[in-house]
Amino acid sequence: MFTVEQTQLLQQKTLEWQSHDTNVNPENLNELRDLLRFHEHRYYVLNNPLIGDTDFDLLYKKLEKFELQHPELITPDSPTQRVGAALIKDFPKKQHLVPMLSLENSYNEDDLRDWDRKVREGAGLTEVEYTLEPKFDGASISLIYENDLLVSGVTRGDGETGDDITPNVFQIRSIPLSAEFLKHNIQQIEIRGEILMSKSNFKKYNDGLMEEGLPPLANPRNAAAGSLRMKDPKIVAQRNLEGFLYHVSYIQFKEQDPKLNTHFNMLNMLWNLGFRSPKNEMKCLKGIDAIIREIKDFESKRDDLPYEIDGMVIKVNELDLQDQLGMTSHHPRWAMAFKFKARQANTTLIGVEFQVGRTGAVTPVAKLNPVGIGGVTVSSISIHNEDYIKEKDLKIGDQVLIERSGDVIPQIVKSLSDLRTGGEKNITFPTHCPVCSEPLFKPEAEAVWRCININCKAQVVEKIIHFASKDAMDIRSFGEANIRKFYELGLLTDIPSIYKLTASQLANLEGFGSKSIQNLLQAIEKSKEQPLHRLIYALGIRYVGETTAKALTQQIEQLLDLANKSTESLQEIEDVGVKVAASIHEFFQHPDNLKMIDELNLLGLKMRSEPKQLSSGHLAGKTFLFTGTLSKLKRNDAEEMVEQAGGKLLSGVSSKLNYLVAGEEAGSKLEKAKKMPTIKILTEQEFLSLLNVVL
Ligand code: IVH
Repeated sequence: MFTVEQTQLLQQKTLEWQSHDTNVNPENLNELRDLLRFHEHRYYVLNNPLIGDTDFDLLYKKLEKFELQHPELITPDSPTQRVGAALIKDFPKKQHLVPMLSLENSYNEDDLRDWDRKVREGAGLTEVEYTLEPKFDGASISLIYENDLLVSGVTRGDGETGDDITPNVFQIRSIPLSAEFLKHNIQQIEIRGEILMSKSNFKKYNDGLMEEGLPPLANPRNAAAGSLRMKDPKIVAQRNLEGFLYHVSYIQFKEQDPKLNTHFNMLNMLWNLGFRSPKNEMKCLKGIDAIIREIKDFESKRDDLPYEIDGMVIKVNELDLQDQLGMTSHHPRWAMAFKFKARQANTTLIGVEFQVGRTGAVTPVAKLNPVGIGGVTVSSISIHNEDYIKEKDLKIGDQVLIERSGDVIPQIVKSLSDLRTGGEKNITFPTHCPVCSEPLFKPEAEAVWRCININCKAQVVEKIIHFASKDAMDIRSFGEANIRKFYELGLLTDIPSIYKLTASQLANLEGFGSKSIQNLLQAIEKSKEQPLHRLIYALGIRYVGETTAKALTQQIEQLLDLANKSTESLQEIEDVGVKVAASIHEFFQHPDNLKMIDELNLLGLKMRSEPKQLSSGHLAGKTFLFTGTLSKLKRNDAEEMVEQAGGKLLSGVSSKLNYLVAGEEAGSKLEKAKKMPTIKILTEQEFLSLLNVVL
């Protein structure tokens, strides 16, 4: 899109705007807009930013402020026009310029060779040139640009007519609001593509849903499709959707452009105009053998991609030949999808068990006839809560479609209700705790039924398991199975009882020799010295994760200081919102919890926070992020070393980051940091030297 010279010029202009703190005026207004478009393109299309997020925001705010004072100078393609759209009432229907067809699917080499033979026969050629590109697994979209401006974004709908979701498409920052089509003599163009949610954004989104007690979505495709249909464009903006544009379905030239005679050239033109077409992901190859070789190579790299693909698409490259081959009512004859191995499977839901977690939440778990998906056997799947069961219309005996997408835990996509025989049974939610038989409660605004008996056996065991776990008190060789066993034997009754275990109690247990007893007791003893933030996390206060526990530690001298804080003062702490503050407050109101803390104190656990060295340590004020696998240090230990020395940890690469410590197999964070000159990249050894540590 931009030549090296243009890039340098635009970057230099950016620096000028920043260093002179230039004011916006009607003369330089367009220059500022161009700079913002340039940096959006670097970030969202090229994935290669030249300035940090904060610097971008500062420039953006300048434009926003100026436009607020001079609304008459706002243009529809100004970078500010993506945000601020009003709520959508109903999506109007809109007819596509050209019907949106589907693709024919193939699943093996033979299918592909058959198709190639038909294409060659139709073309009267011995060998055909094809393009090969990923089959993006998202929601399809059709965009129309007229006189250089994006005028509509429409879903597939029934293929002829779809929903006009233009305000939502404006929120997808890899889709340009304007492009210089007129320079190519193009008056109107209809472009097709796929809207995706990247695997990492999907994971974040699902984690957020689960934290809220809401069921996660089965796959990024559903997340993308659902997000596109939100009635509030501001929410769409927060979902960080991305778009790949892979097909030009209609083009109205003023004068035919002879260069645009192939699919590759079309996508190349789109790329040069600033669109994220799969130009760099695609291959142009002669003959089906080369295509088949390349497909195999691509499938092996499928999991390394930042987004989901469900196969590859092979297209005839010559546009004239595409026209000659034509299409059926369902699909073009000039294209074929090759589907990768499915990550979905059908199986039977044979029963439901109800599990009680450490916070008392009762979770229904579907038991399935074991079924293999992508090399893993799945025999049970969480079905989250009562609303989810209703929404998915699940019954015992149903055939269900399940999916294991990327590194997300398997989910039920839907029940295949058409296959019901009449013998299926409704799933009835218990009214009483399946473990302690106390009545269950459901707060009005929540979807989860809870057992509120804090002495419920199931909760007690789960709390002990969480307390001892790796990210909490990290008591080695004290895993789930041992904890359950000790609890059944009456050796453990609550969290403090961990610290009362004796060698003689364990001596007669099967599988415990004197060495393993000694190791276990030593690990328990050592855990008393764990820093306070680990203890806070280990207590299992609802909504208090590791990051919040660290933030809390920064504000207190000792654990019980939290008991004296009001919800208002808790909310002043970074990372602590209304919900978290209320939960912390409630925890410290409960006499049983205070008694437990008192006991842990008497048993010798560390209750004070480390002396703060924030302003004195030699890394004071410096920010760090770790990525990849470290070989000498554990990630947690390394992070603690940074904090001990007064440094601060960040969770992502941004202009605020000073040091990225890259271990082995560092991935996208390292790539991003490499492109940001202000970030210093350190090896593990360099990090140790910086801290004057010899290992
Ligand atoms: S070409 C007229 N190319 O897959 C042909 N489609 O299962 C237009 N898809 O409806 C489609 N990646 O939504 C094409 N690289 C790609 C694609 C792609 C994903 C979607 C598209 C299509 C569906 C068919």
